[in-house]
Amino acid sequence: MKLGNDQRERLQTLPSRLKAIITGQDRVIDQVVERLQHGELGLCAPGRPKASFLFLGPTGVGKTELTLQFTADLIGPNRVVRLDMSEYQTAERLGLLLGTADEPGRVAEGFDACAGSGTLLFDEIEKAHPRVLDVLLQLLDAARLTTGRNRVLDFSNWYVVLTSNIGGPRIMTLRKSKYETMERLVLQDAQRELRPEIFARITLAVVFAKLDYDAQCTIAHGLVARECAALGDRGFALAPSEPVSSVVIQRGYHERLGARPMRDAAELLIRNALARNLLCGGNGDGQLRPHPDGNRLDVGQAHL
Ligand SMILES: Nc1ncnc2c1ncn2[C@@H]1O[C@H](COP(=O)(O)OP(=O)(O)OP(=O)(O)O)[C@@H](O)[C@H]1O
Ligand SMILES: [Mg+2]
Repeated sequence: MKLGNDQRERLQTLPSRLKAIITGQDRVIDQVVERLQHGELGLCAPGRPKASFLFLGPTGVGKTELTLQFTADLIGPNRVVRLDMSEYQTAERLGLLLGTADEPGRVAEGFDACAGSGTLLFDEIEKAHPRVLDVLLQLLDAARLTTGRNRVLDFSNWYVVLTSNIGGPRIMTLRKSKYETMERLVLQDAQRELRPEIFARITLAVVFAKLDYDAQCTIAHGLVARECAALGDRGFALAPSEPVSSVVIQRGYHERLGARPMRDAAELLIRNALARNLLCGGNGDGQLRPHPDGNRLDVGQAHL
């Protein structure tokens, strides 16, 4: 497939755009982008989705975020159809997704939303019901699903992402190990726990790294800058000082939940500081600094 200059440039620079948003996962991003480039250039297997990925690794390290970002970048906003496998366990819920049991091999009309192109995201794949896995297999194999009303849906223009926390307990016990050791062991766990025919059809399985302190700092810094910019739009001029990030990490980074709670923590810390400043007669402008107790932030002069 021949690309225009714009498209070529966008595909070439995709890694740097993704790395600017998703921190500490450069290795994963490089591998994923290779497959995305193949997908966009039409270099994928014919009659299959453009690429299919298995994203493994701990909670809150960017698996869903990367899916949202690459889809928004390559295809457009709101083109991720997200199916949380833990929500499709009962016959009633399965019926909504897959149609009724007397129509084997046919999915419900819910998939009709999947016209055009986008990414189908199957979250927590290790919890998927066997009937969902049958449909997934069909999807990975032939990029086609038939609905109860006999409509054939074509997914050959779609990406498929499966995410899983398989190996989570192992990652927790391997805190000090090298990334390569963790990667090898988690991939082994996944191969053992997932159906081999699914594993065999995935284009790429990757293990996201735990976020080290540098990555946490970069994320905290970005969240603080974003919140300050949002408050700037409302007329408050807040200038964050460097140590603010460490308070956000201390309050928002969680060994088990990763960076997931950091956004809320940054927002709450900054708004609390601003509210205190306003309630004490300030105008909401000033430097954002850690409070001497190290647990909250202040707006105003530096505490010496
Ligand atoms: N590597 C990262 N770089 C920047 N922000 C991140 C990163 N990882 C997580 N975050 C922040 O944490 C939030 C949650 O991350 P995300 O949803 O990608 O987690 P996940 O890896 O999919 O976890 P889970 O396995 O629980 O689904 C993101 O919306 C983002 O704000
Ligand atoms: Mg996720």
